[in-house]
Amino acid sequence: MKNLNILVLVSGGGTNLQALIDAEKSGAQIAGVKIAAVVSDRPDVYALERAGAAGIPAFVETPNRSLPKPERRKELSDRILALCRQMQIGLIVYAGFLSILTDEIINEYCGRMINIHPALLPKFGGHGMYGINVHRAVLAAGEKESGCTVHIVDAGTDTGPILLQRKVPVLVADTPELLAGRVLEQEHFAIVEGVKIIAQRLSD
Ligand code: GAR
Repeated sequence: MKNLNILVLVSGGGTNLQALIDAEKSGAQIAGVKIAAVVSDRPDVYALERAGAAGIPAFVETPNRSLPKPERRKELSDRILALCRQMQIGLIVYAGFLSILTDEIINEYCGRMINIHPALLPKFGGHGMYGINVHRAVLAAGEKESGCTVHIVDAGTDTGPILLQRKVPVLVADTPELLAGRVLEQEHFAIVEGVKIIAQRLSD
C-alpha cells in the first residue's frame, strides 16, 4: 500500500486519536498510514498531550470568534486546508472534532475526509448532536441499541455516505455516561477500520 499521510482533527480527550496512534505503532493494523499531524480547535485539550507523547506535530487552530459564523467557519477551514497542502495530507480524520469545516477543503478532500459519530446515523446526527447530547437523546427516545458510525464527510453535518457501523445494546440501567463509555469502546475499533477502508480505496 502507498504511503498515506493523515491529519487527525480533535477537540477533546483524544481517545480515538490514541486508537489510531496505537494502530499505527502496531504496524500491521494500518500499513502505509502515517499520522502526519494533529489539529485541535481548542487549546489545553488532552488530545494535544497524546500527540506530543507520540512525537506527532500538533497545531492549535482556534475559530476566530470576532467573525460571523459563515466567515468564521471558512477562515478556519482555509487555515486547515493550507496546513494539509503544506504537509501533503491524503486523508483527514475527524476524531471528536467539533468545528464544522466548509468551502474549499470539502471539495478538495472530497472522499478523503472521514468522521466518527457516536450514534447509528442517520439517527441522532446533525445540529447539536455531539458528545453526551447524543447519548441523552438515544436514551430519551427509548432506543434498544446504539453504536457508532464512520462516514465520509460531505457539505452537510453527519450526512455523508456511511462506511461502517458498530452496534451496542442500550441497557435498562444506562445513564448517558455509561452508554457513552460502551459506544466509545467500539469507536476505537471503528475509527481504525474506517482509516483502513479509505487507505485501501485510495491505493486501488
Ligand atoms: C467521541 O465519542 C466522538 O464520537 C464524539 O466525540 C467523542 C470524542 O472522544 N464526536 C462527536 O460527537 C462529533 N459529532 P475522544 O476525544 O476521546 O476521541
